[in-house]
Amino acid sequence: MSGRRSDRGGRRDGGSVRRRPPLTRVLALDGPAGVGKSTVAVRLAERLGIRWFSSGALYRGVTLLSLRAPGKDVVEIAETTDWQLRGGSLLADGVDVAAQLHTADVDQAVPQVSAVPEVRQAVRQVLHRLVGTLPAIVEGRDIGTEVFPDALVKLFLDATPEVRAQRRSRQRHGEEQEGAVQNAAAALERRDQHDRSKPVGALRPAEDAIIVDTSRLTVDGVCDSLVAVVRKNAPQGAFSPSYE
Ligand code: DC
Repeated sequence: MSGRRSDRGGRRDGGSVRRRPPLTRVLALDGPAGVGKSTVAVRLAERLGIRWFSSGALYRGVTLLSLRAPGKDVVEIAETTDWQLRGGSLLADGVDVAAQLHTADVDQAVPQVSAVPEVRQAVRQVLHRLVGTLPAIVEGRDIGTEVFPDALVKLFLDATPEVRAQRRSRQRHGEEQEGAVQNAAAALERRDQHDRSKPVGALRPAEDAIIVDTSRLTVDGVCDSLVAVVRKNAPQGAFSPSYE
């Protein structure tokens, strides 16, 4: 069978172009800390009826297991653990560790772990295995640039530092408190600096990413505009569960 792949999965065969499903049907959702990616990923996945995966959860999972086994090689942990992500749960060798992923210890250690190139490579492979050929939203920092550079739609969420600090503070402490917002702002500034200057997997929008400023939008407002962007930019039906 001879044929040439076009950008969007069409095949030229004896002069006619036949439509076929793209090889990966990934919607990359990247953006800085505190922008609300996880909340949006869950809601958008519900709206579209497709699965979603958090790459940050995998980095946190590797970090958690390495904190529990001091001295064990972090790359070995990343490569040899059986990782399963299902909705909000993360199974490591069959044990759900989701509830332990957002502790202060993990928060503190995860930047070093996620900076190791072999760990990033292992996480990339896990994500490719989990996604397979079914439609999925994959959320992170470098999904559109490094992990799925052939994603069908690349969205990059952004918001002003002040808005992100307010969102992060509300997420962690419930109601907004002035001191908490200031602390969140300082922590986010450090995270941004680190995420943007990482030698591998740095936070940056892909050249073909659609940048969405969410500063003035509610979660529902963000989801409404993303659904419209997806409908406009993805091949018809690519992100519907029934597309075979
Ligand atoms: O999104 P999060 O806070 O759960 O991410 C946890 C950590 O993993 C954070 O230090 C950033 C890092 N990360 C990354 O380096 N690349 C990704 N694609 C996702 C997260």
